[in-house]
Amino acid sequence: MAKLELRGVVKRFGQVTVCDGISLDVEKGQTVCLIGASGAGKSTLLRCINLLEPIEDGEIFLDGEDISVPGLDPQGVRARIGMVFQSYNLFPHMTALENVMLAPRRVHGKSRAQLLPEIEALFQSFDLGDRMHNYPDQLSGGQQQRVAIVRALAMHPEVILFDEITSALDPQLVGEVLDVLLKLKKQGMTMILATHEMGFARQAADKVCFLKDGQIIEEGAPKELFDAPKRAETKTFLARALK
Ligand SMILES: Nc1ncnc2c1ncn2[C@@H]1O[C@H](COP(=O)(O)OP(=O)(O)OP(=O)(O)O)[C@@H](O)[C@H]1O
Ligand SMILES: [Mg+2]
Repeated sequence: MAKLELRGVVKRFGQVTVCDGISLDVEKGQTVCLIGASGAGKSTLLRCINLLEPIEDGEIFLDGEDISVPGLDPQGVRARIGMVFQSYNLFPHMTALENVMLAPRRVHGKSRAQLLPEIEALFQSFDLGDRMHNYPDQLSGGQQQRVAIVRALAMHPEVILFDEITSALDPQLVGEVLDVLLKLKKQGMTMILATHEMGFARQAADKVCFLKDGQIIEEGAPKELFDAPKRAETKTFLARALK
């Protein structure tokens, strides 16, 4: 489980600066939550870390290695940094098992038979043992999201990025997905989450970062940030978010 360091990351879309010099340290095994209003730049920052968006300035280090140097093969980096999205993005014409096997087969060149024992165990440990052969539309939103997490784990990532992974779920299904995150935290996974789940951030984060207009304007342990925010902007945001 790797350490991640961002140094002065700048991302622009045309004239608009969406990440405005973001620096962030995520230690091995830490859970960092990114909070902030819609449009603050949380998703864009995660996409930059995963090299889905090229950055204009700054550096991103994964275990000390600069992964933001131009010309680096993004596939290699993406095999080391998992990402889970709000919309799960499972292929509808493949079973849960086939969805999970796809990337390890392609990227790591492993056969189904080689992968099966380990992947079966992953499904079982996330309470999906009897769902492996179902198609996505035969699964609840919470189950689909847990399959998407298993899919990320099957690649043995060093870090996983989660972008609002509970936002599309019915409220009664949110808990089962948050439980999976708590389990991963216990296992020592390094995780960065963009989240609107303030209760989860308070309970599980080692560090919470408040983003506004593409900058981290306040960060700290959840207790500090939620109970004694220093910046007026943080106070205003939390007053709305915690209502
Ligand atoms: N591909 C793109 N082209 C142009 N502008 C973009 C693009 N992607 C994002 N943006 C802009 O970047 C800004 C930050 O968007 P982003 O999706 O990162 O915010 P967010 O903090 O994740 O918001 P939310 O809480 O709604 O998910 C927004 O103003 C958005 O319109
Ligand atoms: Mg977003």
